[in-house]
Amino acid sequence: MKEVASPCRWGILGAASIARKNVRAMHLADNARPVAIASRNPVKAAAFAEEHGVDRTHRDYESLLRDPDVDAVYIPLPTTLHREWTVRAAEAGKHVLCEKPVAANATDAEAMIEACRDAGVQFMDGLMFMHHERMRRVESMLPRLGAEPNLLTSGFSFRGDADFFENNIRGDVEAEPLGCVGDLGWYCIRMAIEVMGGIPEAVRARHHRMHGAIPIHTTAELDFPGPDGVRHAMIQCSFLHPLRQWVEICGPDGAMWMEDFVIGSPTEAVLRLETESNLTDRDLVHERRIERIVVEDCVQEVEMIRRFSDIARNDRPLEPRWATRSHETQRVVDAIMASASVGGARIPIDP
Ligand SMILES: NC(=O)c1ccc[n+]([C@@H]2O[C@H](COP(=O)([O-])OP(=O)(O)OC[C@H]3O[C@@H](n4cnc5c(N)ncnc54)[C@H](OP(=O)(O)O)[C@@H]3O)[C@@H](O)[C@H]2O)c1
Repeated sequence: MKEVASPCRWGILGAASIARKNVRAMHLADNARPVAIASRNPVKAAAFAEEHGVDRTHRDYESLLRDPDVDAVYIPLPTTLHREWTVRAAEAGKHVLCEKPVAANATDAEAMIEACRDAGVQFMDGLMFMHHERMRRVESMLPRLGAEPNLLTSGFSFRGDADFFENNIRGDVEAEPLGCVGDLGWYCIRMAIEVMGGIPEAVRARHHRMHGAIPIHTTAELDFPGPDGVRHAMIQCSFLHPLRQWVEICGPDGAMWMEDFVIGSPTEAVLRLETESNLTDRDLVHERRIERIVVEDCVQEVEMIRRFSDIARNDRPLEPRWATRSHETQRVVDAIMASASVGGARIPIDP
């Protein structure tokens, strides 16, 4: 009889709002189990453990890292704490799933990734959409757009109210100095890097609104190298607009569209592909050919936890490509912040 491997035992650093979603995913994934939660506040830790079915609590983050029954940690702390706790987790021999944005800057991200590499543990950021089956469909459909995709436009926004700017970590420059670029732009940038197959060669960006020193409405243009010249991505991210989370990927022969690429429906995720559409007969006839590709019953955070847990249980080898993509995304974020700080100048990025 085949021996059933024991599940990956997860510890969570901080009773964060987003942790509720990933702890549920740990329950739903057949190879994972949330065993420990640490909080700065023991009452909060106990309440979280009870409500979300976590076996035990720790009085601080360090004590959870010393727990020998924890294989992997999930870090949903404010961004400026990611470096310290990722490095400490790696040194304690724990695999690390760290929330995005990975760090305050690329130097910190490099230190985190290096610590995980040195310790022989997995590093991954918490970008759930990358694990959705819909992304595999996007990859397989790219050739239908023509030679290669040459234009990507994407936006992610939600509207924060006065309470949000006053009380949420996203309104605190000590916690989240990258503002909407780190919180929302991160997704659009990663999508552009995935689709264009690597890092842009330069960016231009502008912060249109600030909350103190925090950008809260930013647009950016990313130039990617291509055989026929420059390929572009144009992204928008904002805490000032309604919820929007779209991406359009365009090539010479067609376009692909997702209206909910960050958080799609778990029962029905749609990808629209439009090819061979045209205006004919002096623009009187609009001929359209649209395919609607539907992926049913995929819970992206469960897929992410399952994949990570397989690695932590040694069912699959370490996957360094996740750290590489995080690092690339962070470098683009750095370039966007640098460009916006000097009024939108072109900032080159080393290959
Ligand atoms: N991947 C996604 O889909 C997704 C979605 C939402 C958010 N996120 C990311 O996840 C991270 C957390 O976001 P969230 O909305 O869940 O935030 P949150 O509810 O404020 O949680 C942050 C947690 O960090 C801990 N913490 C430690 N030091 C802190 C400090 N000085 N100030 C505030 N909190 C501190 C707190 O836990 P204790 O008090 O229990 O120690 C707190 O609960 C952010 O980086 C965000 O960008 C990712």
